[in-house]
Amino acid sequence: MTHPLLDVRNLKTYFYLRRGVVKAVDGVSFRLNRGEALGIVGESGSGKTMTALSILRLVPYPGKIVGGEIIFKGRDLLKLTEKEMRHIRGKEISLIFQDPQNSLNPVFTVGWQVGEAIELHSEGKPLWDRIIEKVINILRGVGIPRVEDRVNDYPHEFSGGQKQRIMIGMSISNNPDIIIADEPTTALDVTIQAQIIDLLKDLRSRYNSSIILIAHNMGLVSELCDNVAVMYAGRIVEYGSIEEIFNDPLHPYTRMLLRCIPRTDIDVDKLESIPGEPPDPVNPPSGCRFHPRCPYAKEECKRDPIYIENIDGHMAVCELYRR
Ligand SMILES: Nc1ncnc2c1ncn2[C@@H]1O[C@H](COP(=O)(O)OP(=O)(O)O)[C@@H](O)[C@H]1O
Ligand SMILES: [Mg+2]
Repeated sequence: MTHPLLDVRNLKTYFYLRRGVVKAVDGVSFRLNRGEALGIVGESGSGKTMTALSILRLVPYPGKIVGGEIIFKGRDLLKLTEKEMRHIRGKEISLIFQDPQNSLNPVFTVGWQVGEAIELHSEGKPLWDRIIEKVINILRGVGIPRVEDRVNDYPHEFSGGQKQRIMIGMSISNNPDIIIADEPTTALDVTIQAQIIDLLKDLRSRYNSSIILIAHNMGLVSELCDNVAVMYAGRIVEYGSIEEIFNDPLHPYTRMLLRCIPRTDIDVDKLESIPGEPPDPVNPPSGCRFHPRCPYAKEECKRDPIYIENIDGHMAVCELYRR
C-alpha cells in the first residue's frame, strides 16, 4: 500500500476559555492522496477552519493542538520545529483564505506581494526581474487580464473575484503539494464562484496538486472533489466518495446538508435550512453531538461510543446502522 500524502490522525484542537474548553476539533482523522481533492463540509462553527489551521500549525491563541498526528510525506508536522514549519507553509502546503479582501496587503502592489512569496522560498537570491517574470506568468495562469500592465497595481484596483485569483496565484506560486482553500468563494457572487472553482479544477489538472476544499454546503464541493468529509461540532460524522455521499448519504446530518444546497432556480427564502441550533461548543451533547437535532435519535445516541458504519470506506458515525 502506498502512503497517503497527508494522514491526519485523531487531531484535537481545543480552545481554553474562561467559561470552559471548546473542543473545536475533537478527534478528526482523514487521509489525502496525491492529486486528490477532498471536500470538508459542515455548518459554520463545526471546526473546518481550525482543522485547516491545525495542519499548518497556525491555530490562534487561546487555541492549542492537544493531540493527534499530522503525517505529511512521512513526517509528523506536530513534531517539527517552527523553522521547519515555515518551510512547509506556503511552499509545500498553502492556504487560500476565506476573505481575499483582508489577506492582501493594501499598501503593496500585487506584483510585489506575489513576488515576495516566491522569493521567500527560492534558493539563493534570484534577480527581481526574474521573479517578476514568474509573477506575470502566474497571474496570467490564474486569469488576470492584461497582466503586464497590472503587476504594479494595488489590491484595491482589482475586483473581488480578481483578488481571489491573485490569492490563488500566490498560493500556487511555489508548486505546493497541497492547496487548502477555506471557503474561497464565500465573499463572491455566484458566477464568480463558479469561475474560481473552474480555476481550481484547472490548476489541479495542470499541476496534479492535492486540494482540500472547505465549504459550508455541498454545492461547490460536488464540482471539484473526489471525496467528502462531513463535519459536525468538531468531528467527522460521515466520509465517502462524492458519488456515495450524494447518492446514498448515511448520516441524517449529511442528508439535511444535501437539502440545503443553494440553487439558482429557487427563491433564497424558500431554501431549506437545518432545523435547530448548532450545539454550545463548551457543553456539547453527549454521544452523537447531532442527537438533539436528529429526527431519528434514540436513547443509544446519547451514549458514547457511537456505532461506526463502514461499507468499503464509506463511513458514517451513527447508531441507525447498528445491527
Ligand atoms: N478565537 C477563538 N476563540 C475561541 N473559540 C474559537 C475561536 N475560533 C474558533 N473557536 C471555536 O472553534 C469552533 C470551530 O471554529 P471554526 O473551525 O472556525 O469553524 P468553521 O470553520 O467550521 O466555521 C467554533 O465553534 C468556535 O467555538
Ligand atoms: Mg471557517
